[in-house]
Amino acid sequence: MAFEQEIQRRRTFAIISHPDAGKTTLTEKLLLFGGAIHVAGAVKSNKIKKTATSDWMEIEKQRGISVATSVMGFEYKNYKINILDTPGHQDFAEDTFRTLTAVDSVIIVVDAAKGVEAQTRKLMQVCTMRKTPVMIFVNKMDREGKDPFDLLDELEAELGIGVRPLSWPINIGQKFKGVYNIYQEKLNLYTPNKQKVSETVPVDLNSAELEKFVGEEDAKKLRADLELIDGVYNPFDVNTYLSADIAPVFFGSALNTFGVNELLDCFVEIAPAPLAVEAQERKVTPSEEPFTGFIFKIHANMDPNHRSCIAFVKICSGKFERNVGYKHVRLGKQLKFSSPTAFMAQKKETVDEAYAGDIVGLPDTGNFKIGDTLTSGEELHFKGLPSFSPELFKYVENADPMKTKQLQKGLDQLMGEGVAQIFTHQNNGRKIIGTVGQLQFEVIEYRLLHEYGAQVRWDPISLYKACWIESDDAKELENFKKRKFQYMAKDKDGRDVFLAESGYLLQMAQSDFEKIRFHFTSEF
Ligand code: G4P
Repeated sequence: MAFEQEIQRRRTFAIISHPDAGKTTLTEKLLLFGGAIHVAGAVKSNKIKKTATSDWMEIEKQRGISVATSVMGFEYKNYKINILDTPGHQDFAEDTFRTLTAVDSVIIVVDAAKGVEAQTRKLMQVCTMRKTPVMIFVNKMDREGKDPFDLLDELEAELGIGVRPLSWPINIGQKFKGVYNIYQEKLNLYTPNKQKVSETVPVDLNSAELEKFVGEEDAKKLRADLELIDGVYNPFDVNTYLSADIAPVFFGSALNTFGVNELLDCFVEIAPAPLAVEAQERKVTPSEEPFTGFIFKIHANMDPNHRSCIAFVKICSGKFERNVGYKHVRLGKQLKFSSPTAFMAQKKETVDEAYAGDIVGLPDTGNFKIGDTLTSGEELHFKGLPSFSPELFKYVENADPMKTKQLQKGLDQLMGEGVAQIFTHQNNGRKIIGTVGQLQFEVIEYRLLHEYGAQVRWDPISLYKACWIESDDAKELENFKKRKFQYMAKDKDGRDVFLAESGYLLQMAQSDFEKIRFHFTSEF
């Protein structure tokens, strides 16, 4: 296949949702369609059991082959699809946010009964910031849920994006009869079945045929609903989806393999092929022949016998080849990879070549940090891997004075891997670790001890948010830093960070210092 075609047929995306909305089930059904797996129930590994223990080692054990499920590739209708896993539950971490910087689009799964929940809202903020095209799948229509019009309003209000239904449910819960596919103008009748794909029938909405399929009452309601949709929403325009202004919405039941086919067909048709990526020096287009890529995730192997990591590189342009030398820009070093891995379904296998849009895993022994750029020789630095304001903070203290150096080295390495963020308090010089999930503290403590022989103690600090600050008015900035000295810190790159103790104090600071801009990500 021609080089350009190889890239155009790639669709790299993430499914995001609140735990339990159905992400695993939907992923599994997508793989089923792609023929990548043959029975439902196969994708269990990217999921932590709900009996969830807060013990990190136990979680790590359960994750088992989580590296393989970090990316799941499969072929469908001549498209090469790459799904990036966004871990939820207890292992929710900054990593999850960062994964979204490596995708070209996103599918959000929402539980019809619960609507938009906290984790979805958080992850959507990253999509909004990056203007990532979003599609929404309203799941569990086979259960009692909210009124679909109310849900659409909620999606718009909570996610801050316009919506446009492309399928419409006929009743819900026990009376659920199926969906009318607005995009294809077909009726999809519901038969609960976990393994088989339901059938669609073309139907003229204005003929009596509709009554035959769904009964008089539901036919009447469907016609009225569709009329209302046409009145309220503009006709669907793909460009508004690509510009991240409108999210097309589908309804279905992942568990019953219902509505998933329509979602996937529409997705491959309209979702963007790999997009251009901004580097500090210039914009890089995927079809440029020289290879470029960046590291967005580093997965440490927790097995003490195999202490290596896997660095995940998103290919931004060209073709990546095994055993070819590439430039590690930050280190100014030439590196060759003899066993790069790609991910097909749930299998990890060595690859000889991969194209823009693909993700490749590179075995690593400490060469890579999050955000590192690899190229065929050009001096490039990809942008767009911001740190996000953590939500949980603790002072980290050295519990073994004999191991100060080891602790320093360990912290440097772990922060480089993007496990958490470190800040240095200006007032007392103490180090603060910030995370988005409680578990990360356990991860850090364990890894510092087992990989670096360093021991830490955590001291509490009550903080609400850390925000990066800037201002066009240098004097005002100095004034702010002086006045708020006891709340100021530096991030790992030496940038100024304001430590807000509460939402109220943050608001006060914002209103007292109107010329200061407060940012919740490190890139602005
Ligand atoms: P997650 O990855 O987003 O956390 O959710 P997951 O797919 O594991 O789904 C959470 C629960 O919701 C699972 O049930 C799953 O079977 C169920 N589910 C998913 N899609 C649908 C649907 O369309 N309709 C209905 N009724 N249920 C659905 P569970 O009992 O918690 O787990 P399991 O024992 O089935 O794995």
